[in-house]
Amino acid sequence: MAETKIDPWGAVLIEDYQKVLENYGMEPFDEKMLKKFPNPNRLMRRFVVFGHQDLDRIADAIKHKKEFAILTGIMPSAEKLHLGNKMVVEMVKYFQEQGGKAFVLVADLEALATRDVSLEEAEKRAMEFHIPAYIALGLDPKKTVFYFQSKNKKVRDMAYDFSSHLTLNEFRAIYGDLNASKIMSVLTQIGDILYPQIEKIMPVVVPVGPDQSPHLRACRDVVRRYKKYNFILPSATYHKFTPSLDGDMKMSKSKPDSYVSIPEDPEKVAKNMLTSKTGGQKTIEEQKKLGGKPEECIVFELFKQHLIEDDKELNKIYEGCRAGKIMCGDCKKKAAELMKKFMEDFNKKFEKAKVEMDKVNIMKFGEK
Ligand code: TRP
Ligand code: SF4
Repeated sequence: MAETKIDPWGAVLIEDYQKVLENYGMEPFDEKMLKKFPNPNRLMRRFVVFGHQDLDRIADAIKHKKEFAILTGIMPSAEKLHLGNKMVVEMVKYFQEQGGKAFVLVADLEALATRDVSLEEAEKRAMEFHIPAYIALGLDPKKTVFYFQSKNKKVRDMAYDFSSHLTLNEFRAIYGDLNASKIMSVLTQIGDILYPQIEKIMPVVVPVGPDQSPHLRACRDVVRRYKKYNFILPSATYHKFTPSLDGDMKMSKSKPDSYVSIPEDPEKVAKNMLTSKTGGQKTIEEQKKLGGKPEECIVFELFKQHLIEDDKELNKIYEGCRAGKIMCGDCKKKAAELMKKFMEDFNKKFEKAKVEMDKVNIMKFGEK
């Protein structure tokens, strides 16, 4: 059996999250862990967050009101955002509301090395698009600190320091195929993840999709081995991918009509929603008699992950579907409406965030 290798730079299909947990040394995010968190958000309550590493440390910091940080990165090469970015923002926001200090970095060095985007271009794109878009998705600009990798000397210094603490064989074991630009990006990302602790040693949580797990593994390996800084092992949460509208596990840009980008024309996205794969029966008669299969339905998955906040409402759809009381056509229309509304709302917030960029806290680093 071929082992699924998660490649953070490629698009992979992850069939089986249980296998991902095992192969990548993640702990399952389960009922027991859920109970440790006050006011869990939709993604946690519904186990869209399926895995974690060392999350007890964060639960403990919240409980005892100790300092902790949240960190995530934005790739300024991407033309648009996607629903995965939305999940990251929701997790950052959740931890922020529980008292964590949030850092969001622009991975301009990674974009330069792996996507050939110049630093000037990356800065322009981040200021005009990515940062206001993250704010439109719900980040609180007053409580979030942003920085650019290329301007953060401490991050780069750490990358150099750690370069002698991972062997080429370890890089290969974690990433498979390698080249120098990937090695540079990995070391820089390790620097990012540890950056909050350079200011002060404290727990840090990194909410990511499973495609970023190799970076956490590399970072945690280095921290375990290299004690010079006394860093605490970073924690992580992993959330599931949002499936493609045609039913594949993960949305892929190569199938534009099955892919929900952010932003997107609200009318167009609504139309695309109507093409989603469902878990319905072939005919209305059969649907009434046998009921549908929400577990196999992309529309239901979108309700669950993104579109319906209220658990009771979601449950009603689940039961109604299984009992054959609701029909896929109506369900898809509802999903189309909700997605359209989400995009309209996003566009409004995005326009507002763009003119309020002067309120955003972007770290300035002195020439030293
Ligand atoms: N590699 C990440 C991506 O492709 C971006 C990134 C850079 C990042 N540094 C990070 C993400 C630190 C999380 C934490 O999207
Ligand atoms: Fe999916 Fe709704 Fe059809 Fe059930 S009724 S299979 S939830 S689209």
